[in-house]
Amino acid sequence: MLNLPGVAASIGVYDSGVGGLSVLRALRLRLPGESFTYVADCGHAPYGDRPASFVEGRARYVAQFLTAHGAKALVVACNTASVVAVQRLREQYTLPIVAMEPAIKPAVQISRSKVVLVLATSNTIRSPSVARLCSMYGTDTRIILQACPGLADQVERGRFHDDETQGLLASYLRPGLDAGADTIVLGCTHYAFLVDAIARIAGNAVTIVEPSEAIASQLSRVIAAPADSARHPLAGDTTFFTSGPPHELAAFLAHIGEPSSQVLALPGS
Ligand code: DGL
Repeated sequence: MLNLPGVAASIGVYDSGVGGLSVLRALRLRLPGESFTYVADCGHAPYGDRPASFVEGRARYVAQFLTAHGAKALVVACNTASVVAVQRLREQYTLPIVAMEPAIKPAVQISRSKVVLVLATSNTIRSPSVARLCSMYGTDTRIILQACPGLADQVERGRFHDDETQGLLASYLRPGLDAGADTIVLGCTHYAFLVDAIARIAGNAVTIVEPSEAIASQLSRVIAAPADSARHPLAGDTTFFTSGPPHELAAFLAHIGEPSSQVLALPGS
């Protein structure tokens, strides 16, 4: 096993880019005794419109990197990589793997208007996982599936509120809101950074379902013995790897108020 800073016995968290940082925040709050290794595949983001075989190849590469360096659990903090690749990863690896899928079930339970709007990438929207969720929970609720090309790119650039982002959001939200949706599912981790912008367009009467806390609870259930923050020397530490330029991820971390962190180049990508 190569000796890389921070990875051994940490929890690996992976996304196509910066979206999974919204999940990482919830994981760190829930499990303050753990250390984390975050892999942002920014050099290949966004995944949303890429061929499934490409996304699967990237997910395998990152999972191999994290497991080879001793990660003790993996959180695929990316709906797109989860719906495309997680089944294969679970067949290949024995470590606990927590994955994402749009939170359609809780949204259907919350919705009073019985119209739910799901925002996600094109790959997630057309996935068998989402078709399954719609057939399970869409019997008395209209579930409107909205692919959002371009939105994850805006988040990658840190443009949470500019005119282009507002314009994309308005066009993606309008059909669902006009149809009476009172609940919006964020089916892509990047969109968590747009909650305020979405709320401004959708209004206070609409509930936005953002799943990072649910993922944190699930992780704490599946890891056998959470580390004790008082005893673990690296408690709370996070090491970041990116397949894009490290200074860009460092700039994004600063932009979202993340304390200065170590950002390294993801080997071999
Ligand atoms: N953050 C990702 C997700 O949850 C994907 C964004 C992208 O790379 O297109 O689906």
